[in-house]
Amino acid sequence: MTQVFDVEHVLAELTLEEKASLTSGADFWHTQAVERAGVPGVMVSDGPHGLRKQAEAADHLGMGSSVPATCFPTAAALGSSWDVDLAHRVGEALGRETRANDVAVLLGPGVNIKRTPLCGRNFEYVSEDPVVAGELGTAIVRGIQSQGVGTSLKHFAANNQETDRMRVSADVDERTLREIYLPAFERVVRDAQPWTVMCAYNKVNGTYASEHHWLLTELLRDEWAFDGLVVSDWGAVHDRVPALAAGLDLQMPASGAGSDEAVVAAVRDGSLDEAVLDVAVRRVLRLVQRSQPGLAEAVTFDVDAHHALAREAAAAGSVLLKNDPVGGAPLLPLTGSFAVVGEFARTPRYQGAGSSQVNPTRLDDALTALGDVAFAPGFTIAGGPEGADDALLAGAVELARTAETVVVFLGLPGPDESEGYDRPRLGLPDNQVAALRAIAAVNPRIVVVLANGSAVAVSDWQDLAPAILETWLGGQAGGSAVADLLLGTRSPSGKLTETVPHRLEDTPAFGNFPGELGHVRYGEGVLVGYRWYDTRAMDVAFPFGHGLSYTTFAYDDIVATEASVSVRVTNTGTRAGAEVVQVYVRDPEASVLRPTRELKAFGKVALEPGESRTLTFELTRRDLSYWHTGLHRWVVEGGEFVVEVGASSRDIRGSVSIQVEGDPLWGALTSMSTIGEWFAHPVGGPLLQSMLTMPADMPPLDDSTRAMLGSMPAKVLVTFGMTDFTLADLDALVAKVATA
Ligand code: BGC
Repeated sequence: MTQVFDVEHVLAELTLEEKASLTSGADFWHTQAVERAGVPGVMVSDGPHGLRKQAEAADHLGMGSSVPATCFPTAAALGSSWDVDLAHRVGEALGRETRANDVAVLLGPGVNIKRTPLCGRNFEYVSEDPVVAGELGTAIVRGIQSQGVGTSLKHFAANNQETDRMRVSADVDERTLREIYLPAFERVVRDAQPWTVMCAYNKVNGTYASEHHWLLTELLRDEWAFDGLVVSDWGAVHDRVPALAAGLDLQMPASGAGSDEAVVAAVRDGSLDEAVLDVAVRRVLRLVQRSQPGLAEAVTFDVDAHHALAREAAAAGSVLLKNDPVGGAPLLPLTGSFAVVGEFARTPRYQGAGSSQVNPTRLDDALTALGDVAFAPGFTIAGGPEGADDALLAGAVELARTAETVVVFLGLPGPDESEGYDRPRLGLPDNQVAALRAIAAVNPRIVVVLANGSAVAVSDWQDLAPAILETWLGGQAGGSAVADLLLGTRSPSGKLTETVPHRLEDTPAFGNFPGELGHVRYGEGVLVGYRWYDTRAMDVAFPFGHGLSYTTFAYDDIVATEASVSVRVTNTGTRAGAEVVQVYVRDPEASVLRPTRELKAFGKVALEPGESRTLTFELTRRDLSYWHTGLHRWVVEGGEFVVEVGASSRDIRGSVSIQVEGDPLWGALTSMSTIGEWFAHPVGGPLLQSMLTMPADMPPLDDSTRAMLGSMPAKVLVTFGMTDFTLADLDALVAKVATA
């Protein structure tokens, strides 16, 4: 039985050296123990979509082996289910496996925003939208932690690329951070209180995340009330003393020679307050303590049940991009005979490379799952020099020529998507597109099944395929899940959590990615993902939120107020299915740039044929607001708002215009506040007005003069001699307003 200790008692007993040692790891995966004080070390392991508990040699790049664990669909796939209940259940299973393996914390989920499809680690992230990432992240954390083990919400913050990830400065303006890159973290922290948050490798506006006091303390703890522990990404701490002072509690992995001594010396020479060290030690002790009950009780897990859950999740996260009729009927679900082409059908791509690489308990491939079907590999996954695949290609064309329908499995080669570097291209390898063209030349009845961790370009070839099913990296049961969908055992119900653009040149970060000379400038600001494409009215291959089903859904009875939205959804087809309903908000007239639409709520509803359900969503003031960089707070600008309910960001089924009362928009007045700002101020406005005496012969001000004066700082107006009071009078007025 593991001894449970009293945190405050232990803290009071520890020597300075012991305290310093507790704030870094004992080895690659364990926290430091202090046996004398009855404090055991605990183990942490990756994450996020399966447990990667290393048995022997340790590394954080997925190179060494790990214990068998269920490889659930990656976040790209699970996220595309838009199903919070499912995400919670997957979280429970992940937590159970973590606990069964005596691990205290599973290192995930990752809720960084997909800023560009080229980020090598997008498969580990949920969405280009913070609401989707935040809701799904919350469900996963709750699910995992319900099992008595912890999570590590990562990578905090603005870790949106792999290129130069250990040094690059993500240069992001305040509003963009608040509206795009921070809210998913905020939501998970506030709603699910993860046991730990993992700080990112990169710098944020010039300061390493591991040393970022504003990020780790002012924002995370003071504003969001985070009560857990901040752990570093593996190797993200470069100087422990400023990291501790900034709010980092635990450096991982072990710190190496001399590092504890530096902390001790800093306390002794007064450059680090011992109370600051105590805060970090207290959090480490609390983490160890809160994991003891879970670790004390041995549990097992049901391998078959978890595999079945992985299969359900992979199916729910697959997105039917298109299913056009051929000869009067869509190709999917498959009804007649078909042949299978593509190496991915028997050699599945089901997870990405790097620290998240799981050793699966078993592995399904689509070819086996589809039963007794004719197959030709058609190409090698690795690609290879031009012409090297001729024999394989010829075999596939021969097969396709006589097949009724051809299911072609395409995807990105494994090395294209990994932690540690970004993707080399948006498109599929040339040899795969060439194979598709050759097959299409002999048989137009083509279903393409895609396997990739983030959007791939489809515009060059999608006209050749009447049906496309995007399966992402669907985990160990992805192969059988694809068979379920193709054969119609289940109906597709996933939707895109990221836009599929036509070209790399269209993407928001193009030109500002991956940065140069140590900086990546987030020049697109808040226009990330569909916010960019929709606001700029750009054509895309498949929009955010899009995904088809084998049935159809009608939306009616849309009612909205500033506090809630409701809509009735009806299954109008002949099969059971599930629909993801999306609520967007737009502020048509705003004094700052607002995206054309922003997702604020969503829900997934399963319906039998003919069945209707009314979904109701709550709207908050925050949902209507933007981050005001002058006032440094969320602000609702009064007036009209449009609430849209849609099946995707480009398939809006109804909208309601509402009138909303605005927030006060004034801040502290200074002599450099404009006349407009003075007049908007409830105290300063009337006071200034009373001091401004206009010459009697002056004609009434026209609109353009008003506008010109409105943007003029009060001080400049005085300096121009346009008032009969002095700068000293103005200063006195400023002081009077401040104390009013
Ligand atoms: C990754 C983290 C991971 C850690 C431990 C790092 O390289 O960025 O996501 O949890 O290694 O493996």
